[in-house]
Amino acid sequence: MMAGEATDTISVQAEFEALFSPILQMAYGTSLRLTRNRSEAEDLVQDAALLAYKAFGTFQRGTNFKAWFFRILTNAFYSRHRKEKHEKANLSTDDVPALYLYSKTAEAGLGGSGRDPVSAIMDRLDADRVGEALEALPVDYRMVATLYFIDDLSYQQIAEVLDCPCGFGRHALVLAGAGYCVTGLDRSEVQLAEAERLRGDADWPVLVRGDYRDLPFADESFDVALNLFSSLGYLERDEDVGVLHEFRRVLRPGGTLVLETMHRDRLARIFLPRTWDWLPDGSLFVQERTVDWISSELSTRHIAVGPDGERIERGFVHRLYTATEWVAMLLEAGFATIECFSDWAGTRPPSPEHRLIVRARRVVE
Ligand SMILES: C[S@@+](CC[C@H](N)C(=O)[O-])C[C@H]1O[C@@H](n2cnc3c(N)ncnc32)[C@H](O)[C@@H]1O
Repeated sequence: MMAGEATDTISVQAEFEALFSPILQMAYGTSLRLTRNRSEAEDLVQDAALLAYKAFGTFQRGTNFKAWFFRILTNAFYSRHRKEKHEKANLSTDDVPALYLYSKTAEAGLGGSGRDPVSAIMDRLDADRVGEALEALPVDYRMVATLYFIDDLSYQQIAEVLDCPCGFGRHALVLAGAGYCVTGLDRSEVQLAEAERLRGDADWPVLVRGDYRDLPFADESFDVALNLFSSLGYLERDEDVGVLHEFRRVLRPGGTLVLETMHRDRLARIFLPRTWDWLPDGSLFVQERTVDWISSELSTRHIAVGPDGERIERGFVHRLYTATEWVAMLLEAGFATIECFSDWAGTRPPSPEHRLIVRARRVVE
């Protein structure tokens, strides 16, 4: 090696280290959240640092190193996870029903009334139990948003993302870790408190309590709005369109809404009128379901019978639209360029075999 080349290598190394050192701690925190294991988290940061160093020549000086590095880190995590999944033939998250959250958190109590089951149940959870529910969620659900947007948004330095409703922040936290400026909105105080606990001292995500029918944000505040995990359908159709209208209002022209949901065709494929589960405290948890195939309303009754024989029941209704209906509603709300998929890579058309992903753009007027 010539003396000049050696000096160049040293100065590249020094430049890389100067950019990398300030974000190392945060990278480790994100890795820990993704892997849930200290030594795996350390390995992941090391792998990502090596990959980033190798690709450092492609990093455009003066742009955001943190966002660039976190994209490499989350990609590295995902490719490891994909490999593991192949090796272990893991559970396919496509098959996780939309009501997964409800059943996983049902041990917290099922009282109350109203059309929105999640806030009713979640509002009765204390932080530890919400944490347990979070741990129980399959990993793909924490990653989906990240994976989908990494390529799509790479042209932007730091995209402003609205995750609405954000629940306890499983998408918002990962996206914030990847360098996006994320705002999470939810109406449940309990879930937001858990999201705050998980965020710790980090600046992002910003967490806001509010109602998605009337978003407390100025027009054209975000580049991306996310509505994930069957988070619409608790209202009348017109009100759901109103919420879509609110998403459009707060998106910048050219901005994207991504919606991920159970849909009617899939429900027809997997519908079970009754399921039983034993909860960790020994309670029996029964879910009884009926569908009105004209209104597409899924009515669910949760019945919990405690070890002491105490019985708690509550019911709720969730409207499950078809892909065709989502497209019509998004057009009514003023969106354009609407695409429907059954995978996060955006390569497969919608199908009853999978949950539905819809991407809609606000046109540049
Ligand atoms: C099925 S959860 C999904 C949460 C999150 N997207 C996720 O994937 O974990 C639905 C969420 O909608 C929230 N929610 C229901 N109605 C709402 C409303 N009118 N405004 C804001 N949030 C609402 C609930 O509090 C709950 O956190």
